[in-house]
Amino acid sequence: MAKAKTVYACTSCGAQFPKWTGQCQDCGDWNTLQEELGIAKSIPSSSNPKAARFEGFAPKADVQKLPSVSTQSAPRSGTGLKELDRVLGGGLVPGSIILLGGDPGIGKSTLILQSLALLSEHKSTLYVTGEESAEQVALRAQRLGVQDADLALLADNQLESILDVAIAHKPDVLVVDSIQTLYTDTLQSAPGSVAQVRETASRLVRYGKQTKTIVILVGHVTKEGALAGPRVLEHMVDTVLYFEGEQNSTFRLIRAIKNRFGAVNEIGVFAMTDAGLKEVTNPSAMFIKRTQDDATGSVVLVSQEGTRPLLVEVQALVDQSSLANPRRVTVGLDNQRLSMLLAVVNRHAGFSLYDQDVFVNVIGGVKVHEPAADLAILLAVLSSFRNRGLPPGLAVFGEIGLTGEVRPVQRGLDRIKEVEKLGFTRLIMPQGNKSGIKSSKLDIVTVNNLEQAVRYAF
Ligand code: TYD
Ligand code: MG
Repeated sequence: MAKAKTVYACTSCGAQFPKWTGQCQDCGDWNTLQEELGIAKSIPSSSNPKAARFEGFAPKADVQKLPSVSTQSAPRSGTGLKELDRVLGGGLVPGSIILLGGDPGIGKSTLILQSLALLSEHKSTLYVTGEESAEQVALRAQRLGVQDADLALLADNQLESILDVAIAHKPDVLVVDSIQTLYTDTLQSAPGSVAQVRETASRLVRYGKQTKTIVILVGHVTKEGALAGPRVLEHMVDTVLYFEGEQNSTFRLIRAIKNRFGAVNEIGVFAMTDAGLKEVTNPSAMFIKRTQDDATGSVVLVSQEGTRPLLVEVQALVDQSSLANPRRVTVGLDNQRLSMLLAVVNRHAGFSLYDQDVFVNVIGGVKVHEPAADLAILLAVLSSFRNRGLPPGLAVFGEIGLTGEVRPVQRGLDRIKEVEKLGFTRLIMPQGNKSGIKSSKLDIVTVNNLEQAVRYAF
């Protein structure tokens, strides 16, 4: 019997070597070589049990002409949770593979169990748990009030036996919680290693594609790198969802990082309660429970996440530094961007902060990645620096360029509507977003450059 050949692959650059070494000879990174099955060497043969690795789950495909390919696919099926459907782009597409990543304890299993319970009303479902026992899942279901759901459970973590059960049960939706606990006998490395995660996931992906089963893989992200992060899987799957939020805050955001069937950066918002996750359908108000309207260093930003405007509070603290290199700390924002903005404010608005520590934080554990936050960040910083509050009822958005100009941002009208809806009275926004707006309730100040914005705000 031919012996399956193992190779050592670098997790950074992907180069393969016959022997393990401490340093990858290709990219020079240390400790990145991991054991893997050599694909070229393990060609399936009937005498090779490892051939199972290549087995098909459907009849062999034939070449088809593009126009003859049937595109009449089954409609998307709703998960029962509107916020989750929104992130998925309208529901689950048959045969799609979804990766749900997030920190341990953030609520992935809770979300999965809740949506599977709802899904099982009209779909056949199989929930494979490699982390908890069936009793633990049942207890959790009781707590969530879904103990009567018609849901098939399997507590196992051996890939081959999971696939056998899936082939026998033919579920419409298969969930594996979590991919890091699975192992295949064809590899000797421990569950959770890059090789195991990649191998088990690719077999499940193939199963899903060939049988048109919706496969949801749950994956933990760890900072220590003890378990292979789900990042190695991102290119294999159709949709990547990340569950974000602070452990000690009740709010949880679910964000689409990649989606072959919908918009990326769409977010869904949930609140973790003692009876599981509850959908938050009007989230823009929840992050701005401000205690004091004229607090210094605080600005309400009109941000846009996917197709949804979201109002968040940006807070800044500027304080005399005792360090040679003053600190620039951001939470929920891009640190490099802050450094750039501080240079712009020095050159184009005449405030030098070179001897000040600058801290900027987005309240509620929200992460804001878009440049439309620039103006709000700078106004918060300047408000703290000058110890002057901003006008009450003010909201802000706008990108700042290196020449100090305030640039238009996308979806200006949606942002304005949201500001109006939430009862704000003033808005500072880019001149370039002005066309077509008419608002009677809102005092809109359009600005072309940073200086104008600062003059109005203070
Ligand atoms: P869990 O779904 O197990 O996290 P993950 O699968 O991402 O590791 O969620 C665990 C956390 O959620 C745990 O800290 C307890 C909390 N929780 C609630 O607050 N309410 C609930 O109803 C449930 C089931 C969990
Ligand atoms: Mg879990």
